Amino acid sequence: MDTLTEGKYTLNFKVLHKELDQASTMANYIADSAILTKGPDFLTITFMLIDNQTILGFQIDSNGDWVEAINQKVKDEDNRRYELFELNDITELMTARVQYELGYEGRIIKGDEEVRLEFDIENLAPIE
Ligand code: HEM
Repeated sequence: MDTLTEGKYTLNFKVLHKELDQASTMANYIADSAILTKGPDFLTITFMLIDNQTILGFQIDSNGDWVEAINQKVKDEDNRRYELFELNDITELMTARVQYELGYEGRIIKGDEEVRLEFDIENLAPIE
């Protein structure tokens, strides 16, 4: 997407299982709308993680490397965390990875799983 005009956009996406054509468990833990910001010489995306305490880490794939957010903001009052990533480009599919930990029936459940993000780039909506 080289033609994107400078500005901020909402970008809807689905969180899909790594291989199967179905929603991932992570779909319940991330807002399905991200904010894409195009600047004069940068492109960033902000995701909202819905459960700051359960989602320990979140990375996106950039040409085979797992990339961490360059900035994070925690909102303790609603247990949310915003994570800002730098992008080279926005493509329809992106691989991401999540680490989670939670208590369940007296045990600690931990996971480190890959998911796919499918962006609806045809329907980017500018934010006023
Ligand atoms: C009681 C809570 C949970 C249990 C017992 C649990 C257990 C599991 C198990 C057994 C798998 C399959 C792993 C494998 O095939 O090797 C899995 C996959 C996965 N889990 Fe969890 N999990 C729990 C909570 C969560 C939470 C809170 C998240 C939020 C990020 C999550 C995200 C995932 C993802 C992304 C996968 C890969 C499959 C998919 O995309 O749905 N899980 N989990």
